[in-house]
Amino acid sequence: MSKAIFNTESFPYPTCEHPEGYEDCDYGESFKASVHLDYQEPEFVIDTNFVKKPFKQHLSDIENKKYNTNAPLALTSPFKLLSLEGANTLRRITELATSHQYVRKSYNRGALVLRGLTHVSDFVRDLTEDERVNSLVSTMAGELLTSHGMIMNRGHVNVGEIGTGRPVDQWHVDSGDYALVIMLSDTDGMVGGDFQIALRDPDTAKRLLKENNGQLKEGDEVLTIKYPGKGWALFMQGCLMLHHVTEVKSSPIETKRVSFVNTYMRRNIFAEDYTRYSIFRHGDPIATSFLDFSRQKAWRIKGMMDYILKSPTYKGEHDRDAIIEMLTKAQDELGRTISLLSDSVDDQVGYLDEKNVLDELDVLKENKE
Ligand SMILES: [Fe+2]
Repeated sequence: MSKAIFNTESFPYPTCEHPEGYEDCDYGESFKASVHLDYQEPEFVIDTNFVKKPFKQHLSDIENKKYNTNAPLALTSPFKLLSLEGANTLRRITELATSHQYVRKSYNRGALVLRGLTHVSDFVRDLTEDERVNSLVSTMAGELLTSHGMIMNRGHVNVGEIGTGRPVDQWHVDSGDYALVIMLSDTDGMVGGDFQIALRDPDTAKRLLKENNGQLKEGDEVLTIKYPGKGWALFMQGCLMLHHVTEVKSSPIETKRVSFVNTYMRRNIFAEDYTRYSIFRHGDPIATSFLDFSRQKAWRIKGMMDYILKSPTYKGEHDRDAIIEMLTKAQDELGRTISLLSDSVDDQVGYLDEKNVLDELDVLKENKE
Protein backbone atom coordinates (compact mmCIF):
# COMPACT_ATOMS: atom_id res chain seq x y z
CA MET A 1 0.00 0.00 0.00
CA SER A 2 1.37 3.41 -0.96
CA LYS A 3 2.35 5.75 1.89
CA ALA A 4 0.57 8.70 0.26
CA ILE A 5 -2.90 9.47 1.56
CA PHE A 6 -5.43 11.56 -0.33
CA ASN A 7 -9.11 11.16 0.46
CA THR A 8 -10.90 12.13 -2.68
CA GLU A 9 -14.62 12.95 -2.94
CA SER A 10 -17.20 10.21 -2.35
CA PHE A 11 -18.06 8.16 -5.42
CA PRO A 12 -20.86 9.92 -7.32
CA TYR A 13 -23.98 7.83 -7.86
CA PRO A 14 -24.96 7.97 -11.56
CA THR A 15 -28.43 9.50 -11.21
CA CYS A 16 -31.50 8.54 -13.22
CA GLU A 17 -29.77 5.70 -14.96
CA HIS A 18 -30.41 1.97 -14.74
CA PRO A 19 -29.25 -0.96 -16.86
CA GLU A 20 -31.91 -2.50 -19.10
CA GLY A 21 -34.18 -4.74 -17.03
CA TYR A 22 -33.16 -3.08 -13.73
CA GLU A 23 -35.54 -0.12 -13.88
CA ASP A 24 -36.93 1.17 -10.59
CA CYS A 25 -39.62 -1.08 -9.15
CA ASP A 26 -42.23 0.35 -6.85
CA TYR A 27 -41.74 -1.61 -3.67
CA GLY A 28 -43.61 1.09 -1.79
CA GLU A 29 -40.99 1.89 0.86
CA SER A 30 -38.77 4.93 1.48
CA PHE A 31 -35.70 4.81 3.68
CA LYS A 32 -35.79 7.10 6.72
CA ALA A 33 -32.70 7.00 8.91
CA SER A 34 -34.67 8.21 11.95
CA VAL A 35 -37.06 5.26 11.64
CA HIS A 36 -34.99 2.47 10.09
CA LEU A 37 -31.65 2.84 11.89
CA ASP A 38 -31.07 1.90 15.53
CA TYR A 39 -27.28 1.91 15.95
CA GLN A 40 -25.56 0.53 19.04
CA GLU A 41 -21.79 0.34 18.93
CA PRO A 42 -19.94 -3.01 18.76
CA GLU A 43 -18.53 -4.52 21.92
CA PHE A 44 -15.14 -5.45 20.45
CA VAL A 45 -13.08 -5.63 17.29
CA ILE A 46 -10.44 -7.97 15.90
CA ASP A 47 -7.64 -5.91 14.40
CA THR A 48 -5.46 -6.86 11.44
CA ASN A 49 -2.87 -8.30 13.86
CA PHE A 50 -5.68 -10.68 15.01
CA VAL A 51 -5.78 -8.98 18.42
CA LYS A 52 -9.19 -8.73 20.08
CA LYS A 53 -9.79 -5.42 21.85
CA PRO A 54 -12.73 -3.41 23.20
CA PHE A 55 -14.28 -1.15 20.57
CA LYS A 56 -13.56 1.99 22.61
CA GLN A 57 -9.89 1.06 22.86
CA HIS A 58 -9.81 0.49 19.08
CA LEU A 59 -11.18 4.01 18.53
CA SER A 60 -8.73 5.50 20.98
CA ASP A 61 -5.82 3.63 19.35
CA ILE A 62 -6.85 5.05 15.98
CA GLU A 63 -7.11 8.53 17.51
CA ASN A 64 -3.68 8.21 19.12
CA LYS A 65 -2.19 6.71 15.94
CA LYS A 66 -1.13 3.55 17.74
CA TYR A 67 -1.65 1.41 14.64
CA ASN A 68 1.15 1.34 12.10
CA THR A 69 -1.35 1.00 9.27
CA ASN A 70 -4.14 3.21 7.99
CA ALA A 71 -6.49 0.22 7.72
CA PRO A 72 -6.31 -1.50 11.13
CA LEU A 73 -9.74 -3.15 11.34
CA ALA A 74 -10.26 -6.82 10.47
CA LEU A 75 -13.72 -7.37 11.96
CA THR A 76 -16.18 -5.90 14.46
CA SER A 77 -18.34 -7.94 16.79
CA PRO A 78 -22.05 -7.90 15.83
CA PHE A 79 -23.75 -4.58 16.50
CA LYS A 80 -27.31 -3.38 16.18
CA LEU A 81 -27.70 -1.26 13.05
CA LEU A 82 -31.30 -1.47 11.84
CA SER A 83 -34.43 -1.04 13.91
CA LEU A 84 -36.87 -3.94 13.80
CA GLU A 85 -38.96 -1.90 11.37
CA GLY A 86 -35.87 -1.25 9.24
CA ALA A 87 -34.92 -4.94 9.17
CA ASN A 88 -38.49 -6.05 8.43
CA THR A 89 -38.82 -3.52 5.61
CA LEU A 90 -35.54 -4.57 4.04
CA ARG A 91 -36.47 -8.24 4.36
CA ARG A 92 -39.84 -7.54 2.69
CA ILE A 93 -38.06 -5.86 -0.23
CA THR A 94 -35.71 -8.83 -0.62
CA GLU A 95 -38.72 -11.18 -0.69
CA LEU A 96 -40.36 -9.10 -3.44
CA ALA A 97 -37.09 -8.86 -5.38
CA THR A 98 -36.59 -12.63 -5.24
CA SER A 99 -39.08 -12.99 -8.09
CA HIS A 100 -37.30 -10.34 -10.22
CA GLN A 101 -35.92 -12.24 -13.23
CA TYR A 102 -32.70 -10.19 -13.46
CA VAL A 103 -32.04 -9.58 -9.75
CA ARG A 104 -32.32 -13.25 -8.75
CA LYS A 105 -29.16 -15.22 -9.55
CA SER A 106 -27.53 -18.53 -8.68
CA TYR A 107 -23.81 -19.24 -8.44
CA ASN A 108 -21.72 -22.29 -7.69
CA ARG A 109 -20.40 -20.69 -4.48
CA GLY A 110 -23.76 -20.13 -2.76
CA ALA A 111 -27.35 -21.10 -3.43
CA LEU A 112 -29.17 -17.90 -4.29
CA VAL A 113 -28.13 -14.25 -4.43
CA LEU A 114 -29.85 -11.00 -5.32
CA ARG A 115 -27.86 -8.46 -7.36
CA GLY A 116 -28.61 -4.92 -8.50
CA LEU A 117 -31.01 -4.04 -5.67
CA THR A 118 -29.88 -0.40 -5.61
CA HIS A 119 -31.20 -0.05 -9.15
CA VAL A 120 -34.62 -1.50 -8.46
CA SER A 121 -35.25 -0.22 -4.92
CA ASP A 122 -35.14 3.39 -3.69
CA PHE A 123 -34.98 2.09 -0.12
CA VAL A 124 -31.84 0.06 -0.79
CA ARG A 125 -30.25 2.87 -2.79
CA ASP A 126 -30.81 5.37 0.02
CA LEU A 127 -29.61 2.93 2.71
CA THR A 128 -26.38 2.18 0.84
CA GLU A 129 -25.79 5.89 0.22
CA ASP A 130 -26.77 6.98 3.73
CA GLU A 131 -24.25 9.45 5.15
CA ARG A 132 -24.79 8.38 8.74
CA VAL A 133 -24.06 4.73 7.97
CA ASN A 134 -21.10 5.79 5.87
CA SER A 135 -19.76 7.85 8.75
CA LEU A 136 -20.23 4.95 11.22
CA VAL A 137 -18.32 2.46 9.09
CA SER A 138 -15.57 5.01 8.34
CA THR A 139 -15.12 5.51 12.08
CA MET A 140 -14.89 1.74 12.65
CA ALA A 141 -12.40 1.37 9.79
CA GLY A 142 -10.24 4.30 10.90
CA GLU A 143 -10.27 5.70 7.36
CA LEU A 144 -12.75 7.48 5.12
CA LEU A 145 -14.93 5.20 2.99
CA THR A 146 -17.54 5.49 0.27
CA SER A 147 -20.08 3.00 -1.03
CA HIS A 148 -18.59 0.70 -3.68
CA GLY A 149 -18.23 2.11 -7.20
CA MET A 150 -19.67 -0.96 -8.91
CA ILE A 151 -23.34 -0.16 -8.41
CA MET A 152 -24.55 -3.70 -9.09
CA ASN A 153 -22.42 -4.77 -6.13
CA ARG A 154 -24.23 -2.56 -3.63
CA GLY A 155 -26.93 -4.18 -1.56
CA HIS A 156 -25.98 -7.75 -2.51
CA VAL A 157 -28.18 -10.35 -0.73
CA ASN A 158 -27.26 -13.95 0.17
CA VAL A 159 -30.08 -16.43 0.72
CA GLY A 160 -29.23 -19.68 2.51
CA GLU A 161 -31.81 -22.45 2.43
CA ILE A 162 -32.06 -24.85 5.38
CA GLY A 163 -30.66 -28.39 5.45
CA THR A 164 -28.96 -28.29 2.06
CA GLY A 165 -25.87 -30.17 3.25
CA ARG A 166 -23.64 -27.34 2.05
CA PRO A 167 -22.40 -24.08 3.55
CA VAL A 168 -24.42 -20.93 2.94
CA ASP A 169 -21.19 -19.44 1.58
CA GLN A 170 -17.82 -21.15 1.10
CA TRP A 171 -14.39 -19.98 2.31
CA HIS A 172 -13.37 -16.90 0.34
CA VAL A 173 -11.96 -13.39 0.52
CA ASP A 174 -14.06 -10.50 -0.77
CA SER A 175 -13.68 -8.48 -3.92
CA GLY A 176 -13.88 -4.97 -2.48
CA ASP A 177 -12.22 -3.35 0.52
CA TYR A 178 -14.85 -3.51 3.30
CA ALA A 179 -18.17 -5.29 3.77
CA LEU A 180 -21.11 -4.43 6.01
CA VAL A 181 -23.18 -7.59 6.50
CA ILE A 182 -26.67 -7.18 7.99
CA MET A 183 -28.75 -10.15 9.22
CA LEU A 184 -32.36 -10.09 8.00
CA SER A 185 -33.51 -13.41 9.48
CA ASP A 186 -34.72 -14.21 12.96
CA THR A 187 -31.81 -16.19 14.42
CA ASP A 188 -33.63 -17.38 17.58
CA GLY A 189 -33.06 -21.13 17.85
CA MET A 190 -31.27 -21.30 14.49
CA VAL A 191 -28.74 -24.13 14.36
CA GLY A 192 -25.84 -23.34 12.04
CA GLY A 193 -25.74 -20.39 9.67
CA ASP A 194 -22.78 -19.07 11.67
CA PHE A 195 -20.30 -16.61 10.26
CA GLN A 196 -16.71 -17.79 10.71
CA ILE A 197 -13.53 -15.84 10.06
CA ALA A 198 -10.04 -17.36 9.99
CA LEU A 199 -7.63 -15.74 12.43
CA ARG A 200 -4.64 -16.21 10.13
CA ASP A 201 -3.60 -14.65 6.84
CA PRO A 202 -5.51 -16.35 3.98
CA ASP A 203 -2.58 -18.47 2.76
CA THR A 204 -1.86 -19.84 6.26
CA ALA A 205 -5.57 -20.42 6.88
CA LYS A 206 -5.88 -22.38 3.62
CA ARG A 207 -2.90 -24.54 4.61
CA LEU A 208 -4.41 -25.23 8.04
CA LEU A 209 -7.75 -26.15 6.50
CA LYS A 210 -5.97 -28.58 4.19
CA GLU A 211 -3.98 -30.13 7.04
CA ASN A 212 -6.99 -30.47 9.34
CA ASN A 213 -9.68 -31.82 7.05
CA GLY A 214 -11.41 -28.46 6.69
CA GLN A 215 -11.47 -27.71 10.45
CA LEU A 216 -9.89 -24.81 12.37
CA LYS A 217 -9.47 -24.47 16.14
CA GLU A 218 -12.09 -22.18 17.66
CA GLY A 219 -10.70 -19.09 19.39
CA ASP A 220 -7.19 -19.64 18.07
CA GLU A 221 -7.47 -20.25 14.33
CA VAL A 222 -11.08 -19.28 13.75
CA LEU A 223 -13.71 -17.03 15.33
CA THR A 224 -17.38 -18.03 15.13
CA ILE A 225 -19.91 -15.22 15.19
CA LYS A 226 -23.57 -15.78 15.94
CA TYR A 227 -25.81 -12.88 15.01
CA PRO A 228 -28.02 -12.03 18.00
CA GLY A 229 -30.95 -11.24 15.75
CA LYS A 230 -32.56 -9.44 12.86
CA GLY A 231 -31.10 -5.98 12.11
CA TRP A 232 -27.69 -6.83 13.64
CA ALA A 233 -24.61 -6.29 11.50
CA LEU A 234 -20.89 -6.88 11.40
CA PHE A 235 -18.31 -4.88 9.53
CA MET A 236 -15.04 -6.27 8.19
CA GLN A 237 -12.12 -5.84 5.88
CA GLY A 238 -13.25 -8.93 4.01
CA CYS A 239 -10.64 -8.57 1.26
CA LEU A 240 -7.91 -9.58 3.73
CA MET A 241 -9.71 -12.22 5.83
CA LEU A 242 -10.77 -15.71 4.77
CA HIS A 243 -14.39 -16.22 5.88
CA HIS A 244 -17.47 -18.34 5.22
CA VAL A 245 -20.97 -19.12 6.54
CA THR A 246 -21.82 -22.60 7.80
CA GLU A 247 -24.82 -24.62 6.70
CA VAL A 248 -28.14 -23.77 8.36
CA LYS A 249 -29.17 -27.09 9.84
CA SER A 250 -32.50 -26.04 11.31
CA SER A 251 -34.59 -23.11 12.48
CA PRO A 252 -37.83 -23.14 14.46
CA ILE A 253 -38.94 -19.88 12.81
CA GLU A 254 -37.28 -19.27 9.47
CA THR A 255 -37.27 -21.10 6.16
CA LYS A 256 -34.05 -19.37 5.10
CA ARG A 257 -31.12 -17.24 6.28
CA VAL A 258 -31.09 -13.88 4.52
CA SER A 259 -28.18 -11.46 4.83
CA PHE A 260 -27.68 -8.10 3.17
CA VAL A 261 -24.16 -7.01 2.19
CA ASN A 262 -23.02 -3.53 1.29
CA THR A 263 -19.47 -3.12 0.02
CA TYR A 264 -17.40 0.00 0.72
CA MET A 265 -14.15 1.24 -0.75
CA ARG A 266 -11.49 3.62 0.51
CA ARG A 267 -11.57 7.26 -0.46
CA ASN A 268 -7.77 7.25 -0.17
CA ILE A 269 -7.13 6.55 -3.84
CA PHE A 270 -3.41 5.90 -3.28
CA ALA A 271 -4.26 2.78 -1.23
CA GLU A 272 -4.79 -0.50 -3.07
CA ASP A 273 -8.21 -1.16 -4.55
CA TYR A 274 -9.19 -4.77 -3.76
CA THR A 275 -11.97 -4.89 -6.34
CA ARG A 276 -11.52 -7.86 -8.65
CA TYR A 277 -13.17 -7.20 -12.01
CA SER A 278 -13.43 -10.82 -13.17
CA ILE A 279 -15.90 -11.78 -10.43
CA PHE A 280 -18.34 -9.13 -11.64
CA ARG A 281 -17.53 -9.61 -15.30
CA HIS A 282 -18.69 -13.24 -15.01
CA GLY A 283 -21.49 -12.61 -12.51
CA ASP A 284 -23.40 -9.52 -13.66
CA PRO A 285 -24.47 -8.37 -17.13
CA ILE A 286 -21.19 -7.76 -18.95
CA ALA A 287 -22.09 -4.31 -20.30
CA THR A 288 -22.96 -3.16 -16.77
CA SER A 289 -19.83 -4.58 -15.13
CA PHE A 290 -17.72 -3.01 -17.88
CA LEU A 291 -19.13 0.47 -17.33
CA ASP A 292 -19.22 0.22 -13.52
CA PHE A 293 -15.57 -0.88 -13.37
CA SER A 294 -14.51 1.79 -15.88
CA ARG A 295 -16.20 4.45 -13.77
CA GLN A 296 -14.69 3.22 -10.52
CA LYS A 297 -11.21 3.34 -12.03
CA ALA A 298 -11.91 6.74 -13.63
CA TRP A 299 -12.87 8.04 -10.17
CA ARG A 300 -9.63 6.72 -8.67
CA ILE A 301 -7.36 8.08 -11.43
CA LYS A 302 -9.17 11.44 -11.32
CA GLY A 303 -8.49 11.53 -7.57
CA MET A 304 -4.78 10.91 -8.17
CA MET A 305 -4.64 13.72 -10.72
CA ASP A 306 -6.59 16.02 -8.38
CA TYR A 307 -3.98 15.45 -5.69
CA ILE A 308 -1.16 16.49 -8.03
CA LEU A 309 -3.17 19.50 -9.21
CA LYS A 310 -4.10 20.71 -5.74
CA SER A 311 -1.59 19.63 -3.12
CA PRO A 312 2.05 20.35 -4.02
CA THR A 313 3.04 24.04 -4.15
CA TYR A 314 5.95 25.91 -5.70
CA LYS A 315 7.01 27.02 -2.26
CA GLY A 316 6.33 23.72 -0.55
CA GLU A 317 8.75 20.88 -0.45
CA HIS A 318 7.17 18.88 -3.19
CA ASP A 319 8.99 15.69 -3.79
CA ARG A 320 9.82 14.96 -7.43
CA ASP A 321 10.17 11.24 -6.78
CA ALA A 322 6.80 11.11 -5.00
CA ILE A 323 5.03 12.83 -7.89
CA ILE A 324 6.67 10.53 -10.41
CA GLU A 325 5.63 7.57 -8.23
CA MET A 326 2.01 8.81 -8.21
CA LEU A 327 1.96 9.31 -11.98
CA THR A 328 3.44 5.84 -12.43
CA LYS A 329 0.81 4.36 -10.13
CA ALA A 330 -1.94 6.04 -12.15
CA GLN A 331 -0.38 4.80 -15.38
CA ASP A 332 -0.05 1.22 -14.04
CA GLU A 333 -3.62 1.18 -12.74
CA LEU A 334 -4.94 2.49 -16.06
CA GLY A 335 -2.91 -0.09 -17.96
CA ARG A 336 -4.20 -2.95 -15.82
CA THR A 337 -7.76 -1.65 -16.14
CA ILE A 338 -7.45 -1.69 -19.92
CA SER A 339 -6.07 -5.26 -19.81
CA LEU A 340 -8.93 -6.42 -17.58
CA LEU A 341 -11.62 -4.71 -19.63
CA SER A 342 -10.11 -6.17 -22.81
CA ASP A 343 -10.19 -9.68 -21.27
CA SER A 344 -6.43 -10.07 -21.80
CA VAL A 345 -5.84 -10.72 -18.06
CA ASP A 346 -7.99 -12.28 -15.33
CA ASP A 347 -7.94 -11.24 -11.66
CA GLN A 348 -10.23 -13.96 -10.33
CA VAL A 349 -9.68 -14.79 -6.64
CA GLY A 350 -12.08 -17.74 -6.48
CA TYR A 351 -13.18 -19.64 -3.38
CA LEU A 352 -12.53 -22.96 -1.66
CA ASP A 353 -14.79 -25.82 -2.63
CA GLU A 354 -15.50 -27.19 0.85
CA LYS A 355 -16.88 -30.52 -0.31
CA ASN A 356 -13.56 -31.24 -2.00
CA VAL A 357 -11.39 -29.24 0.35
CA LEU A 358 -8.53 -31.73 0.47
CA ASP A 359 -8.31 -32.24 -3.26
CA GLU A 360 -8.98 -28.79 -4.47
CA LEU A 361 -7.77 -26.44 -1.79
CA ASP A 362 -4.89 -25.11 -3.82
CA VAL A 363 -6.96 -24.83 -6.94
CA LEU A 364 -9.33 -21.94 -6.50
CA LYS A 365 -12.35 -22.60 -8.64
CA GLU A 366 -13.82 -19.92 -10.80
CA ASN A 367 -16.91 -18.25 -9.46
CA LYS A 368 -19.01 -18.36 -12.55
CA GLU A 369 -21.93 -20.22 -13.94
FE1 LIG B 1 -17.54 -12.37 1.90
